[in-house]
Amino acid sequence: MICLIALFLFYVQYVMSAVTLYPVKIGETLILDIGGDVREWTRIRSGVEEKIVPCSESVKTLCNVWIDNNSKVTGDGREQMNKNGTLIISDIKRSDSGDYFSNDELERVHYTADGQIWKLAKSRISIVPTD
Ligand SMILES: *[C@@H]1O[C@H](CO)[C@@H](O)[C@H](O)[C@H]1NC(C)=O
Ligand SMILES: *[C@@H]1O[C@H](CO)[C@@H](O)[C@H](O)[C@H]1NC(C)=O
Repeated sequence: MICLIALFLFYVQYVMSAVTLYPVKIGETLILDIGGDVREWTRIRSGVEEKIVPCSESVKTLCNVWIDNNSKVTGDGREQMNKNGTLIISDIKRSDSGDYFSNDELERVHYTADGQIWKLAKSRISIVPTD
């Protein structure tokens, strides 16, 4: 059994760093949509992680706004996360620069004819505000 699992792991190959550079003009509205399974977005700016979740019947506070890992509000009201998983940031500023992703995004697994399995890393979107 353990041998089988080891064999299986051996054939799984990860394709790392699916980072997409996404230039956005300062002042424009950014809409990120990576599918309806997304319940939470994360962004990392200068090493600091923030999260946002939509408001719902059960979540009425600390929702629809960026919060840090101490549940401190760090957003400024330009952000909006919808129940369908879309993240909208209006009036993009230079300070929005960072990596955006969701841990809810389904892993994409590909099987090849010779029995190998490729797992594509979850997408990371690197937002680059431009003039
Ligand atoms: C929260 O963020 C701070 C600053 O980015 C970091 O030093 C700390 O380790 C983080 N704590 C947790 C629980 O992730
Ligand atoms: C997601 O929800 C927002 C707000 O309700 C809506 O404006 C947008 O069109 C929806 N997007 C999709 C892809 O369903």
